Amino acid sequence: MLRYMTAGESHGEELIGVLEGVPAGLPLSVDDIDGYLWRRQGGVGRGARMNIERDRVRIVSGLWKGETTGAPIGLSIPNRSEIPHHKQPPRTVPRPGHADMTGMLKYGFDDANPAIERASARETAMRVALGAVAHTFLRAFDIAVVGHVIVVGGVQASPDRSDWGELVAERDRSPLYCADRSVEEEMLSKIEAARAREETLGGVAEVVALGVPPGLGSYAQWDRRLEASLARAILSIQSVKATSIGDGTETPLDFGRDAQDELFWQEGVVRRTNRAGGIEGGISNGEPIVVKAFFKPIATQRRPLRSVDLTTGEETECRYIRSDTLIVPAGSVVAEAMVALTIVEALLDKLGGDQLDDTRAAFERYVERIPWRAPVLPDALRAAPAPPPEPVEAPAEEV
Ligand SMILES: Cc1cc2nc3c(=O)[nH]c(=O)nc-3n(C[C@H](O)[C@H](O)[C@H](O)COP(=O)(O)O)c2cc1C
Repeated sequence: MLRYMTAGESHGEELIGVLEGVPAGLPLSVDDIDGYLWRRQGGVGRGARMNIERDRVRIVSGLWKGETTGAPIGLSIPNRSEIPHHKQPPRTVPRPGHADMTGMLKYGFDDANPAIERASARETAMRVALGAVAHTFLRAFDIAVVGHVIVVGGVQASPDRSDWGELVAERDRSPLYCADRSVEEEMLSKIEAARAREETLGGVAEVVALGVPPGLGSYAQWDRRLEASLARAILSIQSVKATSIGDGTETPLDFGRDAQDELFWQEGVVRRTNRAGGIEGGISNGEPIVVKAFFKPIATQRRPLRSVDLTTGEETECRYIRSDTLIVPAGSVVAEAMVALTIVEALLDKLGGDQLDDTRAAFERYVERIPWRAPVLPDALRAAPAPPPEPVEAPAEEV
């Protein structure tokens, strides 16, 4: 059973993560993780903090001579921009759309800071680190999880999905993490226009898991359905307000014949479409698993929104906290991490194994007995992203 948790505040000393259930024998180093952290920090639309932060992970437990031991993997990411509590001005006017008011009411704070500190998506740096371990594990099974941006502020991309190596190369040269060059300019000018209007923008990220065999998840009980686990993982990301599997937001508008993926035989079952997004009956069907994350425009606004001072009851405007304009590129890396973790969870559920070789033997035995041919992964998907350049020290903000 895979379990993971994070701890840490946005401007605390460090972020902490624990991942338990990864089999022993998986080679793992910080270089398998830091490149993913670097990607999360990048992308157009981020605030000042991301220009100056260089997240780097420390692996504090669960390794012996560079391989996992089956013990909990403990990770730490130091915060360069630690701010002592007494230097944070009290915030009694909650920002609508953030966790300020709900946190204050629920936990009895007269200052929103403690709520902001933990609700902040700074926490997603650790999820990306945990996800990087999941990516590393999945690579041992020729499974790759790819996140990319498909909508920014209403501008829709139509990337070529016929070659995932190419798609990733296109994505990685794009400041928007979007693999469709033809809409890049339109997206960038939309962001510029939003900035000029002191506005924020939302969008959609697509995450695709390639090489997942049929048989992960189950219809046998509601909480074992793979799409349910994926939806929970995606909706747990700050500012994600909807998710879909495959063409789940489009098929309700279609006739039934067009909404299914017919089966053909070519030395194994093949499909010509993947509208189901790789899941039928709560179980992976061997096609790419396609999950979308719909991000709302972030809540912190330069032009203040109306709010109420919770200490006085006075109607007022909330104060601006330095913030991002668009977080969908970074969000796509977080969504990718959450999908990777969910697939590892489902894979280990199916195959078990305390040692990587045992899990691999079970995997090979299983795929031998089913009519499924694993896709050949392009080389670009067989390695972790490159680690970041050297850090630059400076104070910064992420809320
Ligand atoms: C990578 C990432 C970065 C974010 N950065 C900001 C930010 O700078 N400012 C902000 O208001 N919200 C930001 N958010 C969203 C808030 O964390 C989120 O809206 C808030 O915690 C309330 O949660 P909810 O929107 O899910 O209800 C970010 C989200 C993600 C995924």
